[in-house]
Amino acid sequence: MSRLNGKKALITGGTSGIGLETAKQFLAEGASLIVTGVTPENVEKTQKELGDQVLVLQADSRDLNDQRQLAERVGQHFGKLDIAFLNAGVSHWRPFDQIDEANFDRLFSINVKAPFFLMQALVPVMANPSSVVLMGSSSSHAGYTNSNAYAATKGAISTLTKAWNSDLLSSHGIRFNTVSPGPIDTPLYDKNKLGITEEVRDIVMDGIRDGIPAGRLGTAEEIAKAVVYLASDESRFTIGVDLILDGAQTIL
Ligand SMILES: NC(=O)c1ccc[n+]([C@@H]2O[C@H](COP(=O)([O-])OP(=O)(O)OC[C@H]3O[C@@H](n4cnc5c(N)ncnc54)[C@H](OP(=O)(O)O)[C@@H]3O)[C@@H](O)[C@H]2O)c1
Repeated sequence: MSRLNGKKALITGGTSGIGLETAKQFLAEGASLIVTGVTPENVEKTQKELGDQVLVLQADSRDLNDQRQLAERVGQHFGKLDIAFLNAGVSHWRPFDQIDEANFDRLFSINVKAPFFLMQALVPVMANPSSVVLMGSSSSHAGYTNSNAYAATKGAISTLTKAWNSDLLSSHGIRFNTVSPGPIDTPLYDKNKLGITEEVRDIVMDGIRDGIPAGRLGTAEEIAKAVVYLASDESRFTIGVDLILDGAQTIL
């Protein structure tokens, strides 16, 4: 396949889960890649896994300097960037009365503030035309119990998809779309529910599965295929969509 032949692409949060799988599909489609992560072992492991042709960088979303330096590295390495998949994010589902200020600030800083200022820094290095895919969540399209602050971060992303098309489509040729997955089987769940036993984890996962009309969680492969489409020229008339990929959980 060569749907991304000659394209230069950045994936944030490309060291695990959906981002890592998307990195593999981008490579298979012919793209050149820069991938970021935050955990040093994951950065190292991903560099080995994806090989020397990919630049794997550590860039912490909580640090705006890291975001600005990342944009500079992108410009130095690629000149112009054709595709950005702003995917790095964390999840934290808790009862409303158990979300404290630190939880709230961490969620908004990684999931909203970081892509906001990274995008600002990337504008000068974006090609015209170029495609940006943002990472949302189906939770911003429903009112799931305990999703509160997390869902609000993804609602902000969904809104930015529209606002940034107004700001940057006609002036810079950058088009924006969002993917909003439902529950996808990635390491995210273990990070979110740290400390629980295997048995409790299984009960939690069964509960999630029971709520999905398709009868299962989605896979990273299924989300990555949608990202490849939105990143590629095949979708050049697809602008400003927020694509829900959730096994019908939101609509049924
Ligand atoms: N899984 C789901 O059910 C689901 C559903 C809807 C939306 N999403 C969204 O999809 C995105 C990816 O999630 P995933 O399921 O693939 O999770 P994941 O396997 O935990 O991957 C998260 C990625 O984000 C990176 N990251 C986390 N904190 C970071 C920080 N402070 N700075 C920079 N990078 C950071 C991680 O880097 P390291 O590996 O280096 O730690 C990793 O590459 C997230 O935005 C998530 O909200 C996931």
